Amino acid sequence: MEMTLENLERHWMPFTSNREFKREPRLFVRASGMHYWTATGRKVLDGSSGLFTSAAGHCRPEIAAAVAKQLQTLDFTPSFMRGHPGAFALADGVAALTPQGLDHVFFCNSGSEAVDTAMKIALAYHLARNEGQRGYFVSRERAYHGVNIGGTALSGMVRNREAFGALLPGVLHLRHTLLPENRLTRGMGSTGAELADDLLRFVNLVGEKRIAAVFVEPIAGSTGVIVPPRGYLERLREICTRYGILLVFDEVICGFGRTGEPFAATSFGVTPDIITMAKALTNGAQPMGAVAVRTGIYRTIVDAAPDGAPEFFHGYTYSAHPAACAAALATLEIYRNEQLFAKGRELSGYFLDAMFALQDLPAVNDVRGFGMLAGIEIKPGKAPGVRGNELQAKLFDRGLHVKTTGDVAIMAPAFIASRADIDLMGSMLREAIAQY
Ligand SMILES: Cc1ncc(COP(=O)(O)O)c(C=O)c1O
Repeated sequence: MEMTLENLERHWMPFTSNREFKREPRLFVRASGMHYWTATGRKVLDGSSGLFTSAAGHCRPEIAAAVAKQLQTLDFTPSFMRGHPGAFALADGVAALTPQGLDHVFFCNSGSEAVDTAMKIALAYHLARNEGQRGYFVSRERAYHGVNIGGTALSGMVRNREAFGALLPGVLHLRHTLLPENRLTRGMGSTGAELADDLLRFVNLVGEKRIAAVFVEPIAGSTGVIVPPRGYLERLREICTRYGILLVFDEVICGFGRTGEPFAATSFGVTPDIITMAKALTNGAQPMGAVAVRTGIYRTIVDAAPDGAPEFFHGYTYSAHPAACAAALATLEIYRNEQLFAKGRELSGYFLDAMFALQDLPAVNDVRGFGMLAGIEIKPGKAPGVRGNELQAKLFDRGLHVKTTGDVAIMAPAFIASRADIDLMGSMLREAIAQY
């Protein structure tokens, strides 16, 4: 179908230069496996798994069939006071992948909702154990925790905050861990574990029993891939444990194999109290988010309430939507049957070789990466982000879809990628960046 400018106009696009897009639309009309197709029939290789969503490749028939069957059988069930089997089966499926002990799962519809849900769980948990004075949250500079008010307040990316006023009071930001000493380090840098001690400063600033939770992305993704320095997450864990602060890993990007294990918590050997997830949970085929919590958190909140009344006054009309559950169950089955996390782990070396090989280009400032996630940072142009935006447009025109943030191209191929796909990503990036 040909699109006219008029019918592009009415859709107010998120995180997009609407004026630029509507002058020069970049529309996808079809996808399969590692590829998208544009409205003019051009094939575009997907370098970012859509938006870190489609880890098993696009348009998996098993997922489509499961969703179709679900919608023809039971299209909707309220999740308040009612349920359907898929939600319980999926909670089991998710808990089988999370680190031991994180085995109760709350469903929502996006990563942003998962983050705000986790904030409310943390507050409710402390209140239930008579520590309701813990009203502070700690996150980190350069963090991205979605776009709801809670997550925006946790966010550490200035453009995502500056238009929205004072947001929440009582959010403290740790320094980010992107250190010049770790430039061009593959995997975890050796410098910076002590940055976790900022948390101790906050404890000393606001009081030992005032902080509810610390939110971190194990690898900060949306800001341009910042891999944690060696020892940093362990140190955060140790301080949280010492002061009764909940540690939340926001694994919306890292979850479901991106770091080579089901969750980055396992890859990095650090177990948080809460994990937020979304995106690859359904391979992107249905909107869904989830929050996994330690048994003790669930039990504390549930057991503190009178029997016969809801224990936690939170939930969404579409929490555990049957079609989303069906998509997620089919996705987890694909991950399991095709051993896709192991496949991603095996491909990671080849992928990171290809990405780090770009460091000889004069315009490349830094390359960072872990597992199947890498950031290629180019030197800024006239203003920060202008070149990055130009680069994603150029790459699209050459046949490669890449998510950029500022001047960083964030590469996150699906785990079904072939070595030839990775080679092609490397060569298209090289040609486009070489022009600067
Ligand atoms: C770490 C993290 N948290 C939360 C979100 C928000 O997820 P959503 O866009 O599904 O609301 C994202 C999205 O990229 C993310 O990377």
